[in-house]
Amino acid sequence: MDGSSTPIIVFGASGRMGSRVCALASEDRAYRLIGAIVRARSAREGQTVRDARDGAAVFTNPLKSRGLLAARGAVIIDFSSDSGAGESLALALDTGAALVIGTTALSSATIDRLRAESDKIALLITPNTSIGVAAASDAVRSLARTLGNGYDCSIVESHHNQKKDSPSGTALRLASAAREGGARLPDDQIVAIRGGDVVGEHTVRFAGAGEYIEITHRATSRDLFARGALRAAAWISDRQPGWYTMHDVLRIGA
Ligand SMILES: NC(=O)c1ccc[n+]([C@@H]2O[C@H](COP(=O)([O-])OP(=O)(O)OC[C@H]3O[C@@H](n4cnc5c(N)ncnc54)[C@H](OP(=O)(O)O)[C@@H]3O)[C@@H](O)[C@H]2O)c1
Repeated sequence: MDGSSTPIIVFGASGRMGSRVCALASEDRAYRLIGAIVRARSAREGQTVRDARDGAAVFTNPLKSRGLLAARGAVIIDFSSDSGAGESLALALDTGAALVIGTTALSSATIDRLRAESDKIALLITPNTSIGVAAASDAVRSLARTLGNGYDCSIVESHHNQKKDSPSGTALRLASAAREGGARLPDDQIVAIRGGDVVGEHTVRFAGAGEYIEITHRATSRDLFARGALRAAAWISDRQPGWYTMHDVLRIGA
C-alpha cells in the first residue's frame, strides 16, 4: 500500500454527502478509498468504485467492512444518521481507525457515548466541514464581543427540502459562537427555511439602532463539505486518541 495517502472508509456511502466524499477521495491521490459502507441488502452492496490508482473499493455493509479497517492510519468518514454514527463508532473502536463524523442532529445519548470513548480513538465531530463556516463562526463571536449588548441577534438558515434536522447543526453552532461573544439571541430568533435544492445558507444578523450588520455564508456545492471532511481525515489519521473539532484542523482560535 502507498504510505503517503490516507486510507478512507465512507459510512453512509450511498447518501448525498457520502457519494461525493467517495467520488472526491477516489479522484485524489492524497487519499485511498478503501471502503464504502452502505446498509446490509442495499442495492449498492457489492458494486465497485475505482480509485485514482486503479485500486477498487467495494460498497459493503458494516459487518463485512471490519477487515478493511485494519489498514494502518485508516479513517472512517461518517455522513449518515444518529444510529449510523453509533455503528461507525463501534467499527472504529473494534479496529482503532480514526473517525470523522459530519452527521448532524446527533442525540445526546450518542454524543455522550462518543465523548466517553474519545480516550480510545481519535474522533472529530463537526456539523459543518467548511473552512468558510469555521472562519464565519469566529467572526460572529468576535463581532458579538465588539458590539456588546445593544444589538439584537438573529439567525436565518435555508436548506433543501430533504434535510432532516431543523434548525441546522451549523445554525446551532453559529448561535453558540454569538452567545459565547455575549450576544442576546433567543431561541425563537433562529429561523429555518426548507425548500428546493438549496445546499446551505446561513445569515447571522446583529440589529442595532439605525444599522444592522450581517454575516452570510452560502454553500453552492456539497463538494465543499466533502473536501473539508477529507482534509479533516488527512489531519486526524496520525493523531493521538482525543476529541477534536474543525478548529483544530484549521488551527483557528476557539
Ligand atoms: N458536516 C457537514 O459539513 C455536513 C454537510 C452536509 C450534510 N451534513 C449532514 O450529514 C448527514 C447526511 O446528509 P445527507 O444529505 O448525505 O443525507 P442522505 O442523503 O440521507 O444520506 C445518508 C446516508 O446514510 C445512510 N445511513 C443512514 N443510517 C444508516 C445506518 N444506520 N447504517 C448504514 N447506513 C445508514 C443512508 O442510507 P439509506 O438511504 O439506506 O437510509 C444514506 O445513504 C446529515 O446529518 C446532514 O445534516 C453535514
